[in-house]
Amino acid sequence: MYTVYSHEPFTDFTNEENQKEFLEALAVVKKDIGKEYPLVIGGEEITTKDKLVSTNPCDTSEVIGSVSKATPKEIDKAFEAAKAAFPKWSQTSHIARAELLFRAAAIMRRRKHELSATVVKEAGKPWVEADIEVAEGIDFLEYYGRQMIEMKDGKQIESRDGESNQYLYMSAGVAVTIPPWNFSAAIMMGTTVAPLVTGNTVLLKPAEPTPIIAAKFVDIMREAGVPDGVLNFVPGEPHEIGDYLVDHKDTSIITFTGSKATGLRILERAAKVQEGQQHLKRVLAEMGGKDTVVVDEGADVETAVSAIVTGAFNFSGQKCSAGSRAVIHESLYDEISKRVVEETEKLTLGDTENYNNYLGPVINQKAYDKVTSYIKVGKKEGKLLTGDESDDSTGYFIKPTIFGDVKPDARIMKEEIFGPVLALCKSKSYEEAIDIANNTEYGLTGAVISNNVENLEYAKKNFHVGNLYFNRNCTGAIVGYHPFGGFKLSGTDSKAGGPDYLLQYMLPKSISQML
Ligand code: SER
Repeated sequence: MYTVYSHEPFTDFTNEENQKEFLEALAVVKKDIGKEYPLVIGGEEITTKDKLVSTNPCDTSEVIGSVSKATPKEIDKAFEAAKAAFPKWSQTSHIARAELLFRAAAIMRRRKHELSATVVKEAGKPWVEADIEVAEGIDFLEYYGRQMIEMKDGKQIESRDGESNQYLYMSAGVAVTIPPWNFSAAIMMGTTVAPLVTGNTVLLKPAEPTPIIAAKFVDIMREAGVPDGVLNFVPGEPHEIGDYLVDHKDTSIITFTGSKATGLRILERAAKVQEGQQHLKRVLAEMGGKDTVVVDEGADVETAVSAIVTGAFNFSGQKCSAGSRAVIHESLYDEISKRVVEETEKLTLGDTENYNNYLGPVINQKAYDKVTSYIKVGKKEGKLLTGDESDDSTGYFIKPTIFGDVKPDARIMKEEIFGPVLALCKSKSYEEAIDIANNTEYGLTGAVISNNVENLEYAKKNFHVGNLYFNRNCTGAIVGYHPFGGFKLSGTDSKAGGPDYLLQYMLPKSISQML
């Protein structure tokens, strides 16, 4: 009845017709600029006086839109609505819940360029990356919908004579979704629909720099028929409502993607049982990364160069999966570093409304200050090979910056920068390179460029990351193809877009009946 899942195709922007359509979508988004979006609680649209204002990181004078701001008072109301909607929603058939996602995916496909254009304007993402991201959002809906249908009868267990046993999956309760700004469409959508399709009701608090794409998604879910109270939209300031959402006695599951500091704080707070709370909270946390491209002796130079440059500078390095360091065998180090610099110097930086710009700005002033201060650190720790130019007069632009001859223990080799800064490090042996790649508290993604089968096998066992890629870059996981999540302090390794993901939102129930 349902087609087999395959990922949403990406738009070919070298085709002029597609470029024209995308420019039209950007014009549609620009027409809506300045629009205000309400909270949605129990199906009711609530407008507050206080607003979160979303601005374009390419040009901070341009306001993309604003959303009403929830305070603890509105959060309480949202929990009441979500609790009231839970009994009916959790007992709605799995298929009906999955079909809600399929309907929403169909609407998203129709509005695909408009959604991508919103990401371009609000997050400063280049066209190609915004398009891939919206495709990923659609994938989450299509993939999790199908997964839910597969799991509708639970799992097979054994029954003895005179006994009939069942193993079913029950919904958990009210889920809180706290997504990041760097995948303001894809991760926001995935971490909202996973708890929904499994029969939980949701409070969605979008990332403060990117609430407009989330407001549009909530509209799409409503158009697709999400019942009142099942999905509640509660943007707000983290310092006002972040802890409140996590601590609330009615929170069952928290899905968070963001910094390590916030993730650890959530894990700690969620462990405390509040007065009136009768369950343990679950936390799915996807935190930082310091991801490495390892280049082995004898590797293909151009494969290595392309993996290093794209992994480091796609979306200006603002991915937890970004390959922000490369550890290169000494026999290839000079050649590869020279080629990496050459290719990087060809990358164009500027307003992402222009298709020809490969890189856009970093997200905000805080990010700009952090990245530029790491560039100062880098100048002490390595040899500046290119970059170190930045300008925050209209937007937050930082040129791709590369440091060579960086020592394994340097700060720019070990700390997450989340910007267009790459460290290059030389290794004497392959084993040493893998040890260097493992030398941080993170363990999210990694790539090995090698033609040596034994060395690739060695990496499978010894490179401690949740997503390991061979002979390609270390970003760009695709739903259903590259389940995504990290080891160590990168998070709970929840594997978004993977076959086990939905299990984390459900309570398995074992039923035994005497015949
Ligand atoms: N899934 C993204 C990637 O693989 C990161 O969140 O790049």
